Amino acid sequence: MANVAVIGAQWGDEGKGKVVDWLASRADIVVRFQGGHNAGHTLVVGNTTYKLSLLPSGVVRGKLGIIGNGVVLDPDALFAEIERVRAQGLDVGPHNLRIAENTPLILPLHPALDRAREAARGEDKIGTTGRGIGPAYEDKVGRRSIRVCDLAEPATLSAKLDELLLHHNSLLRGLGAPEFGKQPLLDALLALAPRLLPYASAVGEVLDAARAEGKRVLFEGAQAVMLDVDHGTYPYVTSSNTVAGNAAAGAGVGPAQIGTVLGIAKAYATRVGSGPFPSELFDDVGRMLGEKGREFGTVTGRPRRCGWFDAAMVRQAVKIGGVDGLVLTKLDVLDGLPELKICVGYKVDGETMRRLPAGMRAQAAAEPIFETMPGWPGSTFGARSYGELPAEAVKYVRRIEELVEAPVMMLSTSPDRDDTIALRDPFAG
Ligand code: IMP
Repeated sequence: MANVAVIGAQWGDEGKGKVVDWLASRADIVVRFQGGHNAGHTLVVGNTTYKLSLLPSGVVRGKLGIIGNGVVLDPDALFAEIERVRAQGLDVGPHNLRIAENTPLILPLHPALDRAREAARGEDKIGTTGRGIGPAYEDKVGRRSIRVCDLAEPATLSAKLDELLLHHNSLLRGLGAPEFGKQPLLDALLALAPRLLPYASAVGEVLDAARAEGKRVLFEGAQAVMLDVDHGTYPYVTSSNTVAGNAAAGAGVGPAQIGTVLGIAKAYATRVGSGPFPSELFDDVGRMLGEKGREFGTVTGRPRRCGWFDAAMVRQAVKIGGVDGLVLTKLDVLDGLPELKICVGYKVDGETMRRLPAGMRAQAAAEPIFETMPGWPGSTFGARSYGELPAEAVKYVRRIEELVEAPVMMLSTSPDRDDTIALRDPFAG
């Protein structure tokens, strides 16, 4: 069986939604294994645009969707999203969506703490999505989480809420934010139980049965390697492991099940939120990339910071993320630029480095080392074969392959699912 995992190779927003949708049509099951509703995947199918945050993209293609235990799940966000896509004509219910019974929940106190913390950090804020993702993961490793399965045990739920509130209210009090009372939370969770529990499942077993039947599983990553809690630009990161290795732990399967790993990268670079971004542009080219590439956050609407493709960073993401091949997206946004730059390394305190250093000060001090390449005349928009690309565009892609030490396995040339140049079927292994 050849499974496929898709991860972001930059700072997120690489266009994973479209790629995952393309792959989902070839898969039997699509699994989310980390993150939560901080993710935003846009899928364009014909004239309809679907904006998904929590739902595995396979639901659009009528495939079985699984939310793995590695996700932090906001039930209100989930049901709002289900209603939204149902209104767009999609059929979503317990028959085609399973949620790991051991998935930790995001409760209203998590976004409250997330926002209070960000406000307290002031200028130094992380720039989180304010969805409570970090505090929910903290509770998971702090062994305080309320998990989906707890909804079936009112006594457990009540005791766990006491423990959770003791912790959170102390923090909220310290931050001068309003505290939470137990009864409204308990009532809400008890009311939620009959709606959420029908989706609860031992998804490890479901995936094991799928393996035995030779089904194809697509693991859908959210965010990206440079936002990984261990390997990203810490502390300006999200709170989960976004690397392909986490697909196993976050779904409840063995590492051998992950299969081929695709890293998605834009032909340039963007970032939302704070943190180091060595190849960032502050000039007209940066503004052009933002406008032409419509670089506004799907979840928060924030304008994204834009810059040149950082091959040193993507190479690092390829190594750490376990990427077998890249999918390059939004090449058309570079159409018409007279010349292009690619970051190939950094100067840090006078020393040349091939990888971004780990220290906060060193990361902030890293200056990009650029290589310049000619741009191309004409358009790459909507190209469906390499033959349709200008020679300079092909050279740009080839140079990226050399620098990041991974082949480009697919090119995406417009938001339309069919405007894809697939050089290899990743499910073929
Ligand atoms: P959090 O995940 O909400 O805690 O935010 C932490 C950092 O990750 C911030 O810089 C966010 O902008 C960034 N982030 C979280 N989710 C996404 C995403 O889906 N795309 C891009 N950036 C994200």
